[in-house]
Amino acid sequence: MKIKDFKLECYFGLYEFTAPYLLTQSDCESMRTEELLAMEPGAQEGYLKQWLGYTETWGDPDLRRAIAGLYQSMSAENVLVFHGAQEAIFGYMNVMLDPGDHMIAMYPNYQSAYEVANSVPGCELSKWYVRDDGEKWVVDFDELESLIRPNTKLLAVNSPNNPTGYTFTNAEIEKLCEICRRHDIYLFSDEVYKGLEMDGEKRDWMADHYDKCVSLGVMSKAYGLAGLRVGWLVSRDTALLDKVVKFKHYMSICCSAPSEYLSKVALKHGDALLKRNTDLIRENIKIADKFFEKYDYLFEKKPISCGPVAFHKLLIDMPVKEFCQMAVDKKGVLLLPADIYDMDGQYFRMGYGRKGVPEALEKFEEFLIENGFTR
Ligand SMILES: Cc1ncc(COP(=O)(O)O)c(C=O)c1O
Repeated sequence: MKIKDFKLECYFGLYEFTAPYLLTQSDCESMRTEELLAMEPGAQEGYLKQWLGYTETWGDPDLRRAIAGLYQSMSAENVLVFHGAQEAIFGYMNVMLDPGDHMIAMYPNYQSAYEVANSVPGCELSKWYVRDDGEKWVVDFDELESLIRPNTKLLAVNSPNNPTGYTFTNAEIEKLCEICRRHDIYLFSDEVYKGLEMDGEKRDWMADHYDKCVSLGVMSKAYGLAGLRVGWLVSRDTALLDKVVKFKHYMSICCSAPSEYLSKVALKHGDALLKRNTDLIRENIKIADKFFEKYDYLFEKKPISCGPVAFHKLLIDMPVKEFCQMAVDKKGVLLLPADIYDMDGQYFRMGYGRKGVPEALEKFEEFLIENGFTR
């Protein structure tokens, strides 16, 4: 199988571990293993005793039970654990898509959500755009319906959306599921940023709303534990999960035992981790809001209600790609320009989930002043 380069991962490969001021990360602040273990009495001893043999392909049974407990209507057999969300997306899309199928992907989106469709010969892809209405990012459900064809097999959405931050309300989740049900379409719902609601409405997992929906979750983003590389698919459609597990036999086979152990500890304290990260995002947004107020002639700030990322607009007459390149070259401030998402427009992604955001914003301001962007 031939597949295009993953633009975002290639870009991060250049700068993520070298640029000192990360202002675009989508994962929340992480922690040391000892900090996580300290959350649960006896966990440190348990971790040291962890057996290092192979684990079950479906995932550790207790971990599957813990993940199922996040949902309204699921039990352990509805959960398939993966080596990160990325592996889950790749496995699911490979199993699902055949030549002659039509797929619709919410767009912009994480590239792997639609790139497998591009690489299956004879598989067609339509993009359901999140659009800038001049103030905020919006979607149009009539536009979605107009994209549906007789051979549409799958709709892939991502909410809270990377990079726009657009998040379906619970009423919109029901509406999406109703559309898919009516047209008998499978729904792939990437919910890796779920749990970081700042607007007071706790979002449902989509798989709880529709039999043909698969929800994607992960320890990386909202929980801030990307190094564990533990993600999952959850669905009432266990026959579909059974097909995906057979594809997993050709990928990681099973997850890492220490990571599964640590994920169980983290999920026991999941609410505390989510609160810690939501509070941090809120604080960083407050600081960034002041920055955007001061420089409203340079940037159009897009509001976010959930999740750690926003897709703001650069207002000056310089390609955003060049602007972001200059920021990282001259000051070590990392931003993500729209072309990484194959998007037109002067947008760039900012991430609010890291402790280093205030310092990175200071450096960003210095960059603006030192390079003549300010009045
Ligand atoms: C929307 C979305 N889905 C999936 C992933 C992959 O997550 P992971 O790194 O945990 O595999 C990412 C990572 O950035 C993402 O933004």
